Amino acid sequence: MQAKVNNAKLSLIRGDITQQDTEAIVNAANTSLLGGGGVDGAIHRAGGPEILEECKKIRVRQGECPTGEAVITTGGKLKAKYVIHTVGPVWSGGNQDENLLLAHAYRNSLTLAKNKGIRSISFPSISTGAYRFPIHNAAWIALSTVRDFLKEHDFEEVRFVLFSDGDLKAYEEIWQKVSGE
Ligand code: APR
Repeated sequence: MQAKVNNAKLSLIRGDITQQDTEAIVNAANTSLLGGGGVDGAIHRAGGPEILEECKKIRVRQGECPTGEAVITTGGKLKAKYVIHTVGPVWSGGNQDENLLLAHAYRNSLTLAKNKGIRSISFPSISTGAYRFPIHNAAWIALSTVRDFLKEHDFEEVRFVLFSDGDLKAYEEIWQKVSGE
């Protein structure tokens, strides 16, 4: 599915984020920045050791990456030039500011991309795997945060890369509601 927000293209696709050719792809990392499973594992495997080396340098400079914040490294061997590592919240019932922290993860990733002059970016469905964030809530937060950002800033493309038909369907359903708001 594709839509326009301002001059930007918003795409929802089923696929593997490590194969995307946007200038940057976003990693659903953890605060250690030292890798993990899911998207994190896939990106480090596909992008190679350069990415982890830069993550370690960031840790030395500024320590771990707090939930909701974002850092940027090379894309290594990936098609994407950059990887933006952000840390989504772990779902713990919805009373620990999870919604706000997830919105921060998306917004801080977009802000980092804009400040770097990056104009196309791919997101996975942050926090909806190991971190157990309910997919429909997460999709609503992701899509409304991106919509609001694109209304304020000039961008070429924001692509959501969903890893299952079910997740793609959820995002498409939620986009019908968010775009009509
Ligand atoms: N491309 C796109 N999406 C993917 C890919 C991939 N190659 N691999 C997994 N996904 C999807 C999952 O199906 C899920 O919908 O990404 C979404 C996020 O799942 P996780 O990777 O588990 O991320 P998250 O829920 O944010 O948990 C982060 O898991 O891997 C560890 O180090 C990571 O501790 C951190 C935690």
